[in-house]
Amino acid sequence: MVNKKKCAVFISGNGSNLESIIKESNKSDFPIKVESIITDNINSRGLNFGKTYNIKCYPLDYKSFIKKEDFESKILEILSIDKIEIICLAGYMKILSSLFIKSFDGLIINIHPSLLPKYKGLDTHQRAIDNNDTLAGCTVHYVNEELDSGEIILQKSLKISHEETASTLQRKVLKLEHLAYPEAIRKIFS
Ligand code: GRF
Repeated sequence: MVNKKKCAVFISGNGSNLESIIKESNKSDFPIKVESIITDNINSRGLNFGKTYNIKCYPLDYKSFIKKEDFESKILEILSIDKIEIICLAGYMKILSSLFIKSFDGLIINIHPSLLPKYKGLDTHQRAIDNNDTLAGCTVHYVNEELDSGEIILQKSLKISHEETASTLQRKVLKLEHLAYPEAIRKIFS
């Protein structure tokens, strides 16, 4: 049994990566425990995993905060109360401020649906297809102040087929992501 670090997972949408991390964290040798789920979107479907797996959820309505600083201060308060030691961004659609990133320096990781440094930002699958790439994949990386640019922890790739569309590729890469995220977390703490 390892001494598990307390983790907060930040989501905005479906939370399928969140679930893959939770499932793995239920194993006794996994280095983190998902303590809290934080979202900027009160309608995020991923919040249901909080109920299913009995994990504290913090649905924060981004629009109800006047300034981004206030929103982030609220999150920092939650992280402090829950004694969070590492943050996993999993489909979290807000860009974190430099101040926030500095206050958790080196302890925030993210998953991105492309083989970084290719295709930072959105619409990654269509851009890979449009460029006639033969490989696609996902990257787990540390978060720094530049979007999708922090040190790479782990990548997984697959072949793009001739009849691929952005949505078929999205589904295939998402499956890879569910393997990559837990593997990257193990790697960090190994
Ligand atoms: C994933 O493709 C992730 O790489 C990207 O957003 C998507 C989130 O999917 N950042 P889910 O909410 O984990 O299902």
